[in-house]
Amino acid sequence: MSVPSNQKIIVALDAPDLSSALALAEPLAGEGCVFKIGLQLFTAVGPSIVKKIQSLGARVFLDLKFHDIPNTAREAVASAVALGVDMTTIHLAGGPAMVSAAVKAAESSKTLVLGVTVLTSMDDTTLDLVGIRHPATDQVLRLTEMGANCQLRGVVASPHEITPLREEFGHSLVIVTPGVRPAGSALDDQRRVMTPGEAIRCGADYLVIGRPITSARSPRDAFLQILGEVHAAA
Ligand code: C5P
Repeated sequence: MSVPSNQKIIVALDAPDLSSALALAEPLAGEGCVFKIGLQLFTAVGPSIVKKIQSLGARVFLDLKFHDIPNTAREAVASAVALGVDMTTIHLAGGPAMVSAAVKAAESSKTLVLGVTVLTSMDDTTLDLVGIRHPATDQVLRLTEMGANCQLRGVVASPHEITPLREEFGHSLVIVTPGVRPAGSALDDQRRVMTPGEAIRCGADYLVIGRPITSARSPRDAFLQILGEVHAAA
């Protein structure tokens, strides 16, 4: 799959309300990027935020990371499909019955269900604290294999897992990568990070980038600088 450079960037609209989300999205809407609506914005504004962003002509990734019993996860994905979103997320830790139910809910739609493997804010130490006693990469591969067996078509994983995922699964899966930080920018709460160019060279299909763009003095300039790096690496 070959995604044009500008469409490889997913801007995380992690904003507290409608007006600040639109202030971020409107100057970027013509650039072809995807906008990610996550827990903060969706909880504050509700489903109408999806329609507002779609009305700018942009594609929407609804990142609510569903993790529940299979029936609830299926119905939640069905609601995301009804909103016409391009991508949505489930936690692979929910297990195969939940993943299969979620995948089935989207099977005859344009919505791509992505499985979250291990959050990019977690490292081996924090995994150990929640009872997972093997390295993050092993856990990502294990969860992805389970997801692939449930007909899942894409995963969310840190930049450090792209190479092992490509070695194991080739290009059969879409890889969406958060934890991306341009050289010299703050890590914030992210742990397993790479620069945009490095992540693209490793084989990421899409990069999720929030604060390096949304907290910049000029989000549009920050976006265009990252786009240049992605373009050079693609
Ligand atoms: O600001 P920053 O670039 O760290 O934002 C990353 C975005 O990607 C956030 O919206 C976060 O919820 C999301 N995300 C993540 N790690 C995952 C899945 C999603 O950071 N594994």
